[in-house]
Amino acid sequence: MDFSNRTPIVAGNWKMNMTRAEAKKLIEEIRPLVKDAACEVALCVPFTDLETAGAAMEGSNLKLGAQNCHWAASGAFTGEISAAMLAELGVSYVVIGHSERRQYFGETDQTVNARMKAALSCGLRVILCVGETLAQRESGQTPLVICNQVKAALDGITAAQMKEIVIAYEPVWAIGTGKTATAQQAGEVCALIRGMVQGLYNEAVADALRIQYGGSMNAKNAAELLAQYDIDGGLIGGASLKAPDFAAIVAAAKQ
Ligand code: 13P
Repeated sequence: MDFSNRTPIVAGNWKMNMTRAEAKKLIEEIRPLVKDAACEVALCVPFTDLETAGAAMEGSNLKLGAQNCHWAASGAFTGEISAAMLAELGVSYVVIGHSERRQYFGETDQTVNARMKAALSCGLRVILCVGETLAQRESGQTPLVICNQVKAALDGITAAQMKEIVIAYEPVWAIGTGKTATAQQAGEVCALIRGMVQGLYNEAVADALRIQYGGSMNAKNAAELLAQYDIDGGLIGGASLKAPDFAAIVAAAKQ
């Protein structure tokens, strides 16, 4: 396998944080710190911040991201946001299937798949999240859980569409807990994902796929995680809310 062609991607997932005023300030702090990044840099912000964030990023190397989208084009889905609405605001990336959505909002592998298809059909790129819980890891089910999630999410997705997809491996037990997967644990699961994608598509698709690690990634542990052969970036929660911490992670991501 040749991974020299994969440009790493570091994305901040702000979750339900940052008012518009706070978003503008944070982006103004981040912009100069990451301007020479060797990787792609995206910020996935709350829906209400999208317009402000897009304006604050203008002329920079930052890409605008959202945290979810609905599977229908439009209609009676109170409280939901369509992929076309995001595309109109200049969104490049949308996070789909985050474990917090699976855990608290009834997201299933089927709805993840449907949301991905809607996002792709509107020209958005997808950051697909997968990951096992602590109980699943401790009972040896990690490979099975990850394989099932990946397979279901990619059902009906073409090889051409795979170019628009990033997969984020986020062990649920490592999210917001301060417990990071070891570089070896994270690398193993990311390798498993790449192998699966090779089986589902072909070697070229697997080689080109970018796989992020997410879960308590920070300025201190980023370099070791990102040095893993199959880890091509990070999806960053808490540490993406502080400009110097986020910038340090970006600096650690080299091709
Ligand atoms: P933390 O970096 O806060 O653990 O969050 C990770 C995450 O869920 C990113 O999507």
